[in-house]
Amino acid sequence: MSALSPILAPSLLAGDHANLAASVSRVADAGLDWLHLDLMDGHFVPNLTFGPETLAALRRAGCRLFFDTHLMLAEPHRYIDAFAKAGANLISVHIEPSCDHAATLARIRQLGCQNGIVLNPGTPAEAILPVLDQVDLVLVMTVQPGFGGQPFRRDMLPKLRQIDTWRRQRGLKFRLEVDGGIDLATGRECREAGADTFVAGTSFYKATDAREFVASFAGL
Ligand code: DX5
Ligand code: ZN
Repeated sequence: MSALSPILAPSLLAGDHANLAASVSRVADAGLDWLHLDLMDGHFVPNLTFGPETLAALRRAGCRLFFDTHLMLAEPHRYIDAFAKAGANLISVHIEPSCDHAATLARIRQLGCQNGIVLNPGTPAEAILPVLDQVDLVLVMTVQPGFGGQPFRRDMLPKLRQIDTWRRQRGLKFRLEVDGGIDLATGRECREAGADTFVAGTSFYKATDAREFVASFAGL
């Protein structure tokens, strides 16, 4: 199990897109610090969501949450400056698109943000080994990215255990995040496998009592 205390990062994708400000307030009002933002380009994944202007507008509206920015883009390196300028705190890029990942991750830090590397369910853990000592966060997708509300992929648990083992063996400090189909039960399984950072879209926004939901996660 990770030594890091659990962080819950609700995904705005599952919020009310006609009232994003209220959906963001629900996160802050529940006592949370992180907000997960899913950026999709219709190429890397078959869906479209927000752009940097959405982040900038939320900042202008007074949102102070930590923006955990998940780029599902075919050419992520082209957009990191824009997302940093728009108010991102952490920018994660996928390992699958061909780009200079080391340079992109270094650029994210140069812009004053934390960086993250993301793996799709079909990508083996070994794919991120070359950049493992350069990241603040590893995000293991527990669904095929593109849409909220999909069932959790339990077959991703061995991948989590493997990455957590490397983290301990190498004395690395990155956070280990999971994203897709996370609720209290699947979150607990991931916590036992080494995860410490939990994206929750559907389960967070469907919870009747957000504070109670958050309290349960804090106890993971
Ligand atoms: C999927 C996104 C997720 C998604 C999670 O492509 O990366 O962040 O919003 O949604 P739930 O929690 O509903 O599976
Ligand atoms: Zn995400």
